[in-house]
Amino acid sequence: MEIEIVKSDKQKSLKISFVKDGDRDVIFLPESRKLTIKLEDDSEESYRLAGGKAMKILEKEEFETVYVKNSEFLSQILEGMLLGSYRFNKYKSKKKDFSVKRIFVEDGDEVENIVHRAKIIASATNFVKDIVNGMPNEMTPLAVVEIAKKLADENNFEIDVLDVNRLTEEKMNALLAVARASSNDPAVVKLAYRPKNAKNKVLLIGKGLTYDSGGLSLKPADSMYTMKSDKSGASAVLGIMKAVSELNIDVEVVGFLGLTENMIGGNAYKPDDVLVARNGVTIEVKNTDAEGRLVLADVLSYAQDIEKDFDYIIDLATLTGAAMIAVGEFTTLAMGHNKKLKKQMLKAGEQSGELMATLPFNRYLEELIDSKIADVANAGATRYGGSLTAGLFLNRFIKEENREKWLHLDIAGPAYVEKDWGYNQYGASGAGVRVLTTFIENLKKGE
Ligand code: BES
Ligand code: ZN
Ligand code: ZN
Repeated sequence: MEIEIVKSDKQKSLKISFVKDGDRDVIFLPESRKLTIKLEDDSEESYRLAGGKAMKILEKEEFETVYVKNSEFLSQILEGMLLGSYRFNKYKSKKKDFSVKRIFVEDGDEVENIVHRAKIIASATNFVKDIVNGMPNEMTPLAVVEIAKKLADENNFEIDVLDVNRLTEEKMNALLAVARASSNDPAVVKLAYRPKNAKNKVLLIGKGLTYDSGGLSLKPADSMYTMKSDKSGASAVLGIMKAVSELNIDVEVVGFLGLTENMIGGNAYKPDDVLVARNGVTIEVKNTDAEGRLVLADVLSYAQDIEKDFDYIIDLATLTGAAMIAVGEFTTLAMGHNKKLKKQMLKAGEQSGELMATLPFNRYLEELIDSKIADVANAGATRYGGSLTAGLFLNRFIKEENREKWLHLDIAGPAYVEKDWGYNQYGASGAGVRVLTTFIENLKKGE
């Protein structure tokens, strides 16, 4: 159940305060209905973290309403509180709802707008967590299609669903090869939000592997567990579109979801296969576990042909384990050719509270994906630089004229939380929603 935020001066509820100094990190006085959280530092993010911490403390208590004062960082506090109180307990027989039901906020300048935005951002992020946490026996490609249809209906998005026949007509052979051994059909979904006065247009492409077993290059048991989260990119695209539409941002956004499973079977695609991708590029399969890039290759190519006059093309994918080797599991890795675009994304990361880093391509890495028999290989010749070689593989499917418009975001680290950190609990984090919504908002402001 979503927590309500109400503008009110009902100071009788438990009052949460945030302070910069003090001896103790937390002072909780339930009898006098006071909870004081010390901020870690001066950053905006410290307010989100403190908001999340407050909710964690209150989880075990019985307060139904809490009160926060208006302040410069109200928006971050509310975001932290709403994100921090998310729980995925759909499958717990003994459900315990979060005790806090309402947050009262002191009235003041801009409070209405701040509450409005915080609610939209948090609910879009939590919406994505629900999809990603959905387990693979239920959240199949077609189940995600149904969620996309409902979202389109609620937000007046254009929607087009490409089924196996259409994917075959489109010659999306790389995607179809990945999908072949699964008994759940694949699909590509296109969703469009087209406000009348848009000056910018963004294409978003999401990797939506509802399960990645690795295929014949089967993952070891320990690495396969959590691979329901391999649909995080596509799920984030849904969440970003929901937020952008609810916030009425004047930027055109067209989302593409590449939805499939990567399974094993007698008809599975194999290492040694050569696939002819939609754009005619031939791909030697070296490892069937490098499937995300195959799916994205065809969806990227389709998106660039079907949509005209766009300014940005950004893909989101849980693409490589190497992303976590490079920067740890908390940070999204951005790769691309356009320095200014990378800067804009770093800035949006900073503003939104999502950690973002960039990795640089270089000419020598390109050789690592050479194939002796085809145009390109789907896995690098060495493990080193694995996130970059995956990025450079995608680059082969970006048309020359779109190279400067493209950015690849590897969210393999932050998309799924194995041990609670910050205001993120075990399970999906909704990575990508806040940073991209902020990026898109900034475009409107001309930043
Ligand atoms: N979905 C995985 C990447 C991943 C790993 C995401 C761990 C989240 C957590 C991807 O499809 C994959 O398996 N990539 C391989 C590529 C390799 C075979 C070139 C990898 O990272 O090992
Ligand atoms: Zn894989
Ligand atoms: Zn994968």
